[in-house]
Amino acid sequence: MPELKTLYDAWHLDKSMSWVKVKKYEERINSKILDILEVKRGETLLDLGCGKGSFCNSAFKRGVKVYGVDFSMVALREAKSLNKKINFILADAVKLPFKEDFFDHVVCLGSLEHFLDKISALKEIHRIVKKKGKVFLFLPNSYFLGHIYFVWKTGLPPDEGGQYFCEQFSTKLGWKKLLEDNSFDVVSIYKFNTIWASKKVSWFTKYVYNFILKHFIPFNLSYSFGYLCVKNEDRNPCRRNSPWECT
Ligand SMILES: C[S@@+](CC[C@H](N)C(=O)[O-])C[C@H]1O[C@@H](n2cnc3c(N)ncnc32)[C@H](O)[C@@H]1O
Repeated sequence: MPELKTLYDAWHLDKSMSWVKVKKYEERINSKILDILEVKRGETLLDLGCGKGSFCNSAFKRGVKVYGVDFSMVALREAKSLNKKINFILADAVKLPFKEDFFDHVVCLGSLEHFLDKISALKEIHRIVKKKGKVFLFLPNSYFLGHIYFVWKTGLPPDEGGQYFCEQFSTKLGWKKLLEDNSFDVVSIYKFNTIWASKKVSWFTKYVYNFILKHFIPFNLSYSFGYLCVKNEDRNPCRRNSPWECT
């Protein structure tokens, strides 16, 4: 089995595997996250697992001092071509090249679920975010109605745009527990239900879903969840008794 990094380089190169991105939607969602974080000019922000840099670029436009980290050189090459003024750094989420309490904000958008060692990555986020800093994570729901329909139809496990080689799904409270077990206080949880990225359904279905159906999806069956967290200073790295045990 090739190294995960190599698989991601190939994934980022293969346009048919990468998600279909809808720029307008992406910008709207980036803007919503920046509003949730209440970012201010001059503050520091890290996008961990930044991919091709779309969120970093939106944050940069708000006058934030942005850093993007990813372990895929292919993704970072594209990110740098998007905005040369942003600090894009090649690093693994489990060993971040920043000093303690450096960031006002850390985001990890659709990435933590793909990290091999989530616990070590969360420890790193905890170390580098400031005492009153804010952390925002996007995480996928195993019980998204669309996934249930897909499993019913095909019997295959759900995957996010072909990243079946390394991904984890959980539920709203399953992810919350992982974050709390790793010394973050979850301030609020948001549901996200827009599905422009999927290649498994037609544009017609996407329009019907995004403009009508999504408003009726129960919270716990949403596509993904956004977690706004703050650092819990009372850090106890092994405050866990869960399936996410330390290794
Ligand atoms: C689904 S993509 C999300 C990219 C971006 N956040 C976005 O929303 O478009 C997951 C990203 O995590 C990166 N990644 C996976 N494991 C990593 C690790 N251990 N350290 C750093 N980046 C990693 C991949 O290269 C990929 O760019």
